[in-house]
Amino acid sequence: MSANIHAMTKIDRPLALRVLQLTDPHLMADPGGELLGVNTRDSLDAVIAQVLHDHGQPDLILATGDIAQDASEEAYRLFGDKLKAFRSSSVWIAGNHDDSPLLARIAAENRADQRHVIQGGWQFVLLDTSVPGKVFGHLADSELAFLESTLLENPDTPALIALHHHPVEIDTEWMSPIGLRNRDAFWQVVDRFSQVRIVLWGHIHQDLDQSRKGVRLLATPSTCIQFTAGSVEFSVEDKAPGYRWFELLPSGDFATEVSRATDFAFELNCNSSGY
Ligand SMILES: [Fe+2]
Repeated sequence: MSANIHAMTKIDRPLALRVLQLTDPHLMADPGGELLGVNTRDSLDAVIAQVLHDHGQPDLILATGDIAQDASEEAYRLFGDKLKAFRSSSVWIAGNHDDSPLLARIAAENRADQRHVIQGGWQFVLLDTSVPGKVFGHLADSELAFLESTLLENPDTPALIALHHHPVEIDTEWMSPIGLRNRDAFWQVVDRFSQVRIVLWGHIHQDLDQSRKGVRLLATPSTCIQFTAGSVEFSVEDKAPGYRWFELLPSGDFATEVSRATDFAFELNCNSSGY
């Protein structure tokens, strides 16, 4: 079998670990809270319903940041309540819109604060790239040391690394200054460890599927609004909210795909100059 399987149907499903990525829900304390015309609670509900319809229950959920738009305690508690639709455990990391310490506190109450998970023959390393008051991302020395020591201690277990900010240049020009700033330091660690199979992120509100030195690079639509891929200026497009699904085998082989809540009705305000 090849290291990366693109067609979901080729995976030996009974043996696979089923992992759901939900990203950038941008929840708000206000039940009527909207992002560019989209009620972010309603769109997350639609995505969760789509997961249960298309894929069923996951074994693990990765929530890759911008869980709250307003960094409110209510938004984090609401996210924990929404995830009760699933039986599996989850892990949450912060994005640029989040209050990382507050998120960590509410995540702990939901047993979603682990930073390293070993499950189903895979390991998941969760990194905090958020910088208080900034839109761009940065990995503190402590995060880089955590990544390095974790990979050093677990050399034989296929690894998925999850973070919020994009660690490579993408073709959406306005997002160029707001990615992971010290990405060279990140790759200097990752490049030393052959067990890393996947680097996964949120933040860019769009589907991305590339590879770099044998590592699959994946990003995923937001559960609310979508940014237009390939745009020079800030731009949103009316694609449906979505999520990413993985089926992972202990051999390191895996399949992944993006699904969208295509029945979710919304009227996007395309004239905004930011979010
Ligand atoms: Fe976001």
